[in-house]
Amino acid sequence: MKSLTFLFTLITGISALPNPNPLPQDPTPSPAAAPVLPLSSSSRWILDGNNKRIKLRCLNWAGHLETNVPEGLHRQPLEYITSWIASNNFNCVRLTFSSDLTFSGPTTPVHSSFTTVSQQQSKPALINEIYPGIISKNPWITANTTTLDVFAKVVDSLWAKGVMTILDNHVSKASWCCNLTDGNGWWDTASGYNPFNSRFFHTDQWLKSLQFMAAWAKKHRGVVGMGLRNELRAFLLQDLNGRKDWYTNVKKAGDLVHLTNPDLLILVGGAQSSTDLVHLKTKMLDTSGWKGKHVWEMHAYSFTVTFPDPFKNCDLVKAGYGFWSGFVLEQNKAYTGPLIMSEFGVGMQGSDVNGQFEGLNEQDHRYLDCLVGYLKGNDAEWAVWAIQGSYYIREGTIDYDETWGLIDHEWKGWRNEKFRAKIGDLYKVTQGP
Ligand SMILES: *[C@@H]1O[C@H](CO)[C@@H](O)[C@H](O)[C@H]1NC(C)=O
Ligand SMILES: *[C@@H]1O[C@H](CO)[C@@H](O)[C@H](O)[C@H]1NC(C)=O
Repeated sequence: MKSLTFLFTLITGISALPNPNPLPQDPTPSPAAAPVLPLSSSSRWILDGNNKRIKLRCLNWAGHLETNVPEGLHRQPLEYITSWIASNNFNCVRLTFSSDLTFSGPTTPVHSSFTTVSQQQSKPALINEIYPGIISKNPWITANTTTLDVFAKVVDSLWAKGVMTILDNHVSKASWCCNLTDGNGWWDTASGYNPFNSRFFHTDQWLKSLQFMAAWAKKHRGVVGMGLRNELRAFLLQDLNGRKDWYTNVKKAGDLVHLTNPDLLILVGGAQSSTDLVHLKTKMLDTSGWKGKHVWEMHAYSFTVTFPDPFKNCDLVKAGYGFWSGFVLEQNKAYTGPLIMSEFGVGMQGSDVNGQFEGLNEQDHRYLDCLVGYLKGNDAEWAVWAIQGSYYIREGTIDYDETWGLIDHEWKGWRNEKFRAKIGDLYKVTQGP
């Protein structure tokens, strides 16, 4: 999730629509059908273990904040949350983690993690009020349960319901993401180092963290993919070398993850906070190290496009999406690959007085219509941001209310039922290889 806005400097009329291959019917998969693994990619499609198309319809679930524990366990039993996800027909979760989880974290008991963060941030309520909620709702978390044990239980509980997990390396230092001074944006070994954007992003630790999680995932069958890094973003004098650092580091990471766990899909986002893959038009990334496993990522929020009142003209917005990232769906190109819109979302409680915007604000309502239209037209994969209705602690606030959460503060049910209907068409599979 980004809090960063930048200007689309160039919108051309190029619209990147793939060749549509309509399927005879319109099969909407049932939540119970567990996919056959491992997944692979071919052209712009993701295929299951039987080489049939499978469409990823995911939500994001944050686990990358300071405590390194997936959110929500202070509000509901894990089983309740994973059942909610499955029964609402999501077939996958993009589960975010920090590199810290795999350094200081994996053997840290949940209790000590909460104690440490509570002390560091001078927030006694974190350990005195939130932690007791966790063990009361989830008594399987005992004194010895580690943060990584919780990730395991989350992944396994999802998979028991047929829901797949994509692990997403979201940040290096566990914290809310992303801005240009949080130290997590761009590799510290890249050219143009500045501490604001890179002080925590140690390339070697990032690689080790990916390797660790890829190996770990072998014991947790529900993990089907690895997002190499969320929202890469350069700042000041970085990324002035034709994306050289991006090509080098992404390749290293992809090669390493694949070597460690050849079953995983490898998800790669572009520069400028996962909005910009334009460089691929002139130079393809070397993905030969993970053949048949490659997937592109793209993010788009209402604030990503900042030309005046953009969503009044959906065609222009869609052309922009196509120009910056969506073009990778064009078939038979060097860069052709599946594309997952791995973050999009809106505030669920807009200033909608007479109900015409379905509980959203007007701008978000129009943004969502454009975006859903775009994804529908391309039949692309997606992951909505985000399930969490509240956080243990975010940006110093205990039990932070997430107004963008699909689920309410108590993690009980939809925060805005109408949102569900608005993304309903995205579940349909309309094209195929
Ligand atoms: C939990 O940790 C305590 C103290 O280190 C130890 O005595 C106990 O055997 C552990 N329990 C389990 C189930 O590992
Ligand atoms: C950027 O992120 C850091 C770390 O989360 C935070 O301390 C800082 O206040 C943020 N800056 C802005 C402008 O939001």
